[in-house]
Amino acid sequence: MFRRQLAERTADLHRAAEAVVPLMRSGVTIDDYRQYLRRWTRFVVRAESGLQRAPGLRRWLPDLDERWKTPRLLHDCERLGVAVRAGADPGGDPPTDAVAFGQMYVLEGSTLGGQVILRHLRRTLGDAIDGATRSLDAYGRHTGRRWQAFQDGLEAFVDTCGDHEIVVTAARDTFHEFLRAYAQPRRTYPSARVRTSTARPTKSETSSST
Ligand code: HEM
Repeated sequence: MFRRQLAERTADLHRAAEAVVPLMRSGVTIDDYRQYLRRWTRFVVRAESGLQRAPGLRRWLPDLDERWKTPRLLHDCERLGVAVRAGADPGGDPPTDAVAFGQMYVLEGSTLGGQVILRHLRRTLGDAIDGATRSLDAYGRHTGRRWQAFQDGLEAFVDTCGDHEIVVTAARDTFHEFLRAYAQPRRTYPSARVRTSTARPTKSETSSST
């Protein structure tokens, strides 16, 4: 089965991704979560702006429009006062469906880890993350079912189009891009206070955006 092959051929990069994201540490802080949100959001906004223009993804993933992570992330960033300069649409040609599937694999797979991270953050950070976990909990109790549906769509796509190698290469490239995005320097946030969506950012919070 292709899904198994894809997991095996990207396992080294998944391990690298797990190693750079510090959210499973026992001493994780709300600031670690902010740093993660800022970097992950920039990466996802950029990836999804290309994915939205992929020509045929919907044919294989009919629920594609319910899968976008950008709105969930922007909500969480807003809740925690993380200002993110919206990543510019990379422009250029839209990704082919095979490349788009490789990219989607990385984004969809991350919802599985999201559940594990969420449980840990609830235990360690408690109510500091209340209202700011839409992204980690993207599909909630439907996570397993949505992942299965994604994998079925992927399998049907490669069975029909035969672009296995392109999907693997695109998935590996996407992991590399994430690792590059995560290597950005940390930002300093002026306060660990949870800002409500109605409150205005302080001047220093606004200027801490990148
Ligand atoms: C501390 C951070 C992370 C943890 C603890 C974590 C944990 C997990 C877990 C538990 C699974 C399910 C494995 C299984 O069911 O066999 C998973 C799958 C996956 N994760 Fe992560 N993950 C993390 C970060 C990431 C990141 C940052 C990305 C993307 C850039 C990512 C992409 C994926 C993918 C694509 C899969 C699917 C693997 C497959 O095909 O079975 N993960 N992760």
